[in-house]
Amino acid sequence: MVTGKPASGRFITFEGGEGAGKSTQIRLLATALRGDGHDILETREPGGSCGAEAVRHVLLSGGAESFGIRMEAVLFAAARSDHVAQTIRPAVEAGRIVLCDRFMDSSRVYQGVTGNLEPDFVRSLERVAIDGMVPDLTILLDLPAELGLARAHRRGGGDPDRFEKEDLKTHESRRAAFLELAEAEQQRFRVIDGDRSEDAIAADVLAAVRSLLPARRAARSPRAKGKKAR
Ligand code: TYD
Repeated sequence: MVTGKPASGRFITFEGGEGAGKSTQIRLLATALRGDGHDILETREPGGSCGAEAVRHVLLSGGAESFGIRMEAVLFAAARSDHVAQTIRPAVEAGRIVLCDRFMDSSRVYQGVTGNLEPDFVRSLERVAIDGMVPDLTILLDLPAELGLARAHRRGGGDPDRFEKEDLKTHESRRAAFLELAEAEQQRFRVIDGDRSEDAIAADVLAAVRSLLPARRAARSPRAKGKKAR
């Protein structure tokens, strides 16, 4: 880096089952952090870059389902590789805080655990796809699968997507699998109870994220911006 200062960029992912409230919480967190003066990039998976968005529709429409779970896993990894290269890494290297709705833990859980794929296969894909871009923090929004699914159905209105339509038992297994990942990597994960008010959850999310960030930068008012430094 030209300045010789350590990069202040951070990579924060949000994980959880269907209807866990990730997108709402990302939106609230982004607003709060922008108020603190941080430069925020909101993104999501599958998607978040041109190549990955092209693959998104194939995956969520169920278009790849008939080719089997291995093919789906490879497509998620292909999308992730493009997302990391085109969007996430450049933003973090530029000092931005990247908030990403789902990332590698979703593949570990959806394709690995409930998809019954061999752990070695899933880890190999992960290694290639993330290319060292391990999240600095992963927020797991945890709530009973039944509640999350009911929310997702209310929100979605139309037909459930390829993964939402699976049975309750599968969704419960995903919840347990996410919690196991969090237990195994306590340094990276923060588990937050998602069965509470939006504001209560948002306060916990913000506290977890602020603890990761360097000293708060004061938000600058338009007036302050116009003043010359003395
Ligand atoms: P989407 O509607 O974008 O998000 P969400 O359910 O988080 O609101 O759907 C993404 C779906 O793709 C979701 O059911 C989880 C699934 N998925 C995987 O199976 N593996 C992955 O690696 C990722 C990123 C998502």
